[in-house]
Amino acid sequence: MILTELHLHHFRNYQDLTVHFNPGVNVLIGHNAQGKTNMLEAIYVLSLTKSHRTSNDHELINWQEKSALISGTVEKSIGKIPLELQFSSKGKKAKVNHLEQARLSQYVGQLNAILFAPEDLSLVKGSPALRRHFMDREFSQMSSKYLYNAGQYRTLLRQKNKYLKQLKYKQQTDRVLLRVLSDQLAAFGAEVIIARQHFLKHLEGWAADLHQEISLNKESLRLEYVNQLKVNDETTVEEAYQALFKLYQDNERREIEQGTTIYGPHRDDIRFLVNDKNVQAFGSQGQQRTTALSVKLAEIDLMKEQTGEYPLLLLDDVLSELDTIRQTHLLTAIQNKVQTFLTTTSLSDVARQLINEPTIFEIEHGTLNKEEVK
Ligand SMILES: Nc1ncnc2c1ncn2[C@@H]1O[C@H](COP(=O)(O)OP(=O)(O)OP(=O)(O)O)[C@@H](O)[C@H]1O
Ligand SMILES: [Mg+2]
Repeated sequence: MILTELHLHHFRNYQDLTVHFNPGVNVLIGHNAQGKTNMLEAIYVLSLTKSHRTSNDHELINWQEKSALISGTVEKSIGKIPLELQFSSKGKKAKVNHLEQARLSQYVGQLNAILFAPEDLSLVKGSPALRRHFMDREFSQMSSKYLYNAGQYRTLLRQKNKYLKQLKYKQQTDRVLLRVLSDQLAAFGAEVIIARQHFLKHLEGWAADLHQEISLNKESLRLEYVNQLKVNDETTVEEAYQALFKLYQDNERREIEQGTTIYGPHRDDIRFLVNDKNVQAFGSQGQQRTTALSVKLAEIDLMKEQTGEYPLLLLDDVLSELDTIRQTHLLTAIQNKVQTFLTTTSLSDVARQLINEPTIFEIEHGTLNKEEVK
């Protein structure tokens, strides 16, 4: 898919801007604090209705204003789709084809984007919560079923945790409701677990190929889904449900004592193995970087497989973090395949030579100028 046009009104440091993009590579170049990340953020928000930088939508609105608007046109194999998001103190409104959507979940999935920023290195180095968040964010974009199941799981988990606390502090004594909640939680949890296993397996295939290529055949990458049920590719949703529900039944007393749910996909993790060693614990900076990059690039193919369309690729300040070999691999992997938006304070010679007919935009204080390239 291609984002042909973007319009920003009172979004962050942009007053009023309309821009037409190149279906290939778009380079956003500028000094610090001019609005490069804000532009990528706008595209990301248009895709997911949420920012990757803040959970507070109000921050997206220009400081001097009361509302903001992002709109754009996406071109897919089925045709052109106009998208629009409005932010104000009343909340947000999402429109597809000029029609307001009753639920944001109906909106998500129209425009798919994969964002890679320096902080994505924390995918490998950071806490398990970050990797769970990564799975939920990425898999929700590919599958509305996953989005739904993960959302239901979260809601039920909150309810069950609240009830467990009431039982712990003896404000409640009746365990029937607890069993009902555990039963429902196990049902949605099983869906989430099996979907994660499935998606990670697919992701692994592409990530392993890329990693091997980038490391010049020196390293092999494997991804392991770490979960309490120890599911494998053959495990069915029904089996996962039975196993999870049993864990809840067998550990009812412990969960009440602790006042929280101790089993389920909210405790899962991903393990990255390079040459069979856990790269989080034993990998060098470079290996961790290559791992994160391979996994992100693999998402492009996974998304294409799941949705039938290539997503957009948003690369925030990534080139400067990579050595020449990795820059070359990154840029060759994306050439002529996905529409790409990359930000940088200065474009290296390597990148200039490698990128095929890019459009270069210079960003200064929230305004854009197209640079004429030979
Ligand atoms: N709601 C807002 N209203 C007005 N300005 C804002 C708002 N939010 C952020 N800004 C400003 O936008 C400016 C540009 O931020 P942005 O993160 O896009 O910079 P950048 O070009 O990516 O810089 P860097 O190269 O340092 O990453 C910052 O100076 C910030 O203060
Ligand atoms: Mg930035």
